[in-house]
Amino acid sequence: MLTHKINEVKEHVKKWKQEGLKIGIVPTMGALHAGHGSLIKKAVETCDRVIVSVFVNPIQFGPSEDFDKYPRTLEADVKLAEGLGADLIFAPSADEMYGEGQRLSNDTLTYVVPPFFYVNKLCGKSRVGHFDGVCTVVLKLFNITQADYGFFGQKDAQQLIIIRKMVNDLNIPIELIGCPIVRDDSGLALSSRNKYLDEKGKEDALALNKILNNIKACYNKGVNDISALKETAFQFLNEAHDLEYLEFVDKDNLEDKTTADDNTLVLIACRVNDVRLIDNITLK
Ligand code: PAJ
Repeated sequence: MLTHKINEVKEHVKKWKQEGLKIGIVPTMGALHAGHGSLIKKAVETCDRVIVSVFVNPIQFGPSEDFDKYPRTLEADVKLAEGLGADLIFAPSADEMYGEGQRLSNDTLTYVVPPFFYVNKLCGKSRVGHFDGVCTVVLKLFNITQADYGFFGQKDAQQLIIIRKMVNDLNIPIELIGCPIVRDDSGLALSSRNKYLDEKGKEDALALNKILNNIKACYNKGVNDISALKETAFQFLNEAHDLEYLEFVDKDNLEDKTTADDNTLVLIACRVNDVRLIDNITLK
């Protein structure tokens, strides 16, 4: 069932809670693909009732980012989510989420601001304010749905770590379930933004996965010097690539690694024909 209204979600939730049912929330921005699908499947396996939110959240996009052109495919999203067993698809408008006519700025709106250490690196460096917007909307979704479980993809590893930190720091009564990255047959991590890529772009985009796999292979052969591991990336890059970062951090707390070890998370962000793509791998 599709709803656009917070109150309708709350009514369903109240009834489900009275029946003692466990509720799962899968937050998404829509344009659903098999990556989102894997989260929905896991939620359906784990919970009695599953809510999938579809909301292109304006406050997590910077002024020069792709908010307007972000793909919106609600009808297909509802079909996919319901086909996998989701009970409720919650697709609010921005007015419904933030109040009608509300100016979406931190002058007027209460924001969740994650710690500087977690946001002043990786994606947060180029996307200033992005994780404030993510945490704010995710906490709202947790509150609206009163979910027992929240499902997030390892694809957005920094996002998952920051949301875990928020849940822990603010004692939010929810259990988070992280789900592995889903890739297509060529190894490209599925992303709603892959829709912006043409055939050549898709081929060039494979470099991200190749770089990460190659780093892991070198690590497994005994190389743990990070500069040496970083060096190995360049053979996969050409003029179609604009590398934003390739970083080695602790998989739990995002602290920079000095040498690579089993707890290392390697993350990459790269523009391919001006489409910003991210991917990551753990070395263990
Ligand atoms: P979105 O990019 O739509 O992603 C929704 C969820 O799907 C995230 O938890 C993301 O990590 C997961 N996901 C995306 N691609 C995946 C893949 N290939 N394999 C596994 N999981 C994948 O992330 C957001 O939306 C937003 O920031 C949101 C959390 C909804 C807040 O607005």
